[in-house]
Amino acid sequence: MNILDLLAAFSSRRVLVIGDVMLDHYIIGDVHRISPEAPVPVVQATEERRVAGGAANVAHNLAVAGVRVEVFGVMGDDANGLALAALLERDGVASGRCLRRAGVPTIVKTRVVARHQQLCRIDHEGGRALYDPLADAAGSAALAAAVGEADAIIVSDYAKGVVTQALYDRVRELAARRGALLAVDPKPARRLDLRGAGLLTPNRGEALQLAGLAEPSPGEPYPLAEVCARIHASYAPSLLVVTLGADGMVIAREGRVCTSLPTQAREVFDVSGAGDTVIAFLVAALACGADAESAARAANLAAGVVVSKMGTATVTPAELLAAAGRVGTA
Ligand SMILES: Nc1ncnc2c1ncn2[C@@H]1O[C@H](COP(=O)(O)OP(=O)(O)OP(=O)(O)O)[C@@H](O)[C@H]1O
Ligand SMILES: [Mg+2]
Repeated sequence: MNILDLLAAFSSRRVLVIGDVMLDHYIIGDVHRISPEAPVPVVQATEERRVAGGAANVAHNLAVAGVRVEVFGVMGDDANGLALAALLERDGVASGRCLRRAGVPTIVKTRVVARHQQLCRIDHEGGRALYDPLADAAGSAALAAAVGEADAIIVSDYAKGVVTQALYDRVRELAARRGALLAVDPKPARRLDLRGAGLLTPNRGEALQLAGLAEPSPGEPYPLAEVCARIHASYAPSLLVVTLGADGMVIAREGRVCTSLPTQAREVFDVSGAGDTVIAFLVAALACGADAESAARAANLAAGVVVSKMGTATVTPAELLAAAGRVGTA
């Protein structure tokens, strides 16, 4: 399937993103002096920006690509939760079934940036148990209702508490009943049994962890074949896509690498959130019936665009088409 046909098909599919929704907050400014109060730079703020982050960024990427998308997660009943809900609504992401919990802080990552350089990051979040959607009956019902309307489901784990083994098992069962594609962007610091996924998209480090392998010593090559074989032996995803940062991505089936795609990035400005863009485009394309190679090519092109932008960002159909034109795959 070519990119034009794919983009035209996107609006016919509904994708549900389940995971840790957050607000990415940027304070951008300039530094002219060192503070008289402490040996730290004084940032004269010139701009503030708020965008959907974490699982909400995956959903935002889908919406901008033209897919019908809903996000399910947990926010606080606070000003940041209101801001996040408003952003999602503006961007065309349905978020009405997200849980809004009193006394729970909406997760916020604030980055202070001066002259394109991050000076520090300030995180606001509560303990993991606060974000478990299955902690109350309303959460279970909302989750089941959301899965019941989806053609494909993305579990986007940022290890903040939404994604537990119980949640994954429930989603897997509901998705299987519907015949919906289930994709997982894992955060394997905590071991979850992810058997039954149609697609896993770990990055380089996450893939090592899923495979139970240590980081190779300096000078040693990345043990890609062994990583893919071991992940297959443990979890047997129908499709495994390992993203390799500047080295692009590989597709593996049955534990064997079948395709490697070098990155399509022309300029790299900020790689944060590139993994979110990858899983969004992969799943959108697979949900439209694309084969794994075409889906990965589209996702790799989209990632190449998003790393040229500051902060967590998205890719429009026009930008994807332009990128495809440059590499001759339009
Ligand atoms: N430095 C880079 N140069 C070129 N392309 C890159 C670079 N970093 C990332 N990419 C592109 O983005 C894709 C995903 O990147 P990566 O493997 O870093 O995901 P990730 O670690 O999950 O990212 P994040 O967690 O920040 O969302 C890569 O497959 C590649 O296409
Ligand atoms: Mg990632």
